[in-house]
Amino acid sequence: MKLENKVVVVTGANGGIGEVLVKALLDKGAAKVYAAARTTAAVAELVQQHGGRVVAVQLDITDPSSVAAAAEQCRDLDLLINNAGVNRCAWFMAPTAMESAREEMEVNYFGTLGMCRAFAPLLASRGGGAIVNVCSIIGLVNLPVNGTYCASKAAGHSLLQGLRAELAARNILVVGVYPGPVDTKMTAGQEMPKTTPDQVAAAIVRGLENGDEDIFPDPMSQGVHLGLEKNPKQVEKEFAAMIPG
Ligand SMILES: NC(=O)c1ccc[n+]([C@@H]2O[C@H](COP(=O)([O-])OP(=O)(O)OC[C@H]3O[C@@H](n4cnc5c(N)ncnc54)[C@H](OP(=O)(O)O)[C@@H]3O)[C@@H](O)[C@H]2O)c1
Repeated sequence: MKLENKVVVVTGANGGIGEVLVKALLDKGAAKVYAAARTTAAVAELVQQHGGRVVAVQLDITDPSSVAAAAEQCRDLDLLINNAGVNRCAWFMAPTAMESAREEMEVNYFGTLGMCRAFAPLLASRGGGAIVNVCSIIGLVNLPVNGTYCASKAAGHSLLQGLRAELAARNILVVGVYPGPVDTKMTAGQEMPKTTPDQVAAAIVRGLENGDEDIFPDPMSQGVHLGLEKNPKQVEKEFAAMIPG
């Protein structure tokens, strides 16, 4: 997909991967980016920096009326990027695991599903386009310290596979992005090698231009992806061994 002159919606645009993605899309010539966030104040600076090319959209992806209002505002889109997500860093046996798992499913799975259901008909009515869902490499293999989050991202992976088949006939490409650890608010205070949000945004833009269905944006995600192709049980065991203590 060529990004020049395209109209794009980015969710979770007020920081982390979403914010740099807005800038990367503009650099590639996107005509307009709808920067969606829970409050428009959170994207006011982005709007100010880029004039009419960035438009603020109030959006809570877990609230159906907010999703419907955003869809009404963004009827001219060519590309939807579902980037918003949460990670409560919970083990399955942690005291708060049920609450964390429900919240992660509500945002990462049901919220993303609701967005796809609201925006796909708009893309179809314009002759097609693309939906990019930011999943995670740990949606493909469970990392026990983030167990409940991984389950929600695994649901997100299944969602995009099914949607890809359903929406192909309407000329909508569905793209999955599977990053490893990224240096954002989500991983603040966690000591581990991380890639930059810029690297992830650049890989998404490159993948879209190439027409890729699956994007592994960093060396860690690329390595795990290769491992999963060759020996998934071995990767599962390696991730299981990452339980501290
Ligand atoms: N960081 C990583 O290591 C990593 C790795 C793989 C995949 N990912 C995925 O990458 C995506 C972006 O994450 P990030 O690393 O950039 O983290 P981040 O800085 O925490 O960004 C998450 C964004 O999602 C928004 N959000 C959360 N719940 C929402 C809701 N109900 N409605 C609308 N927006 C909501 C947040 O808004 P608020 O600021 O209002 O909370 C924030 O803008 C997520 O889907 C994440 O799961 C991240």
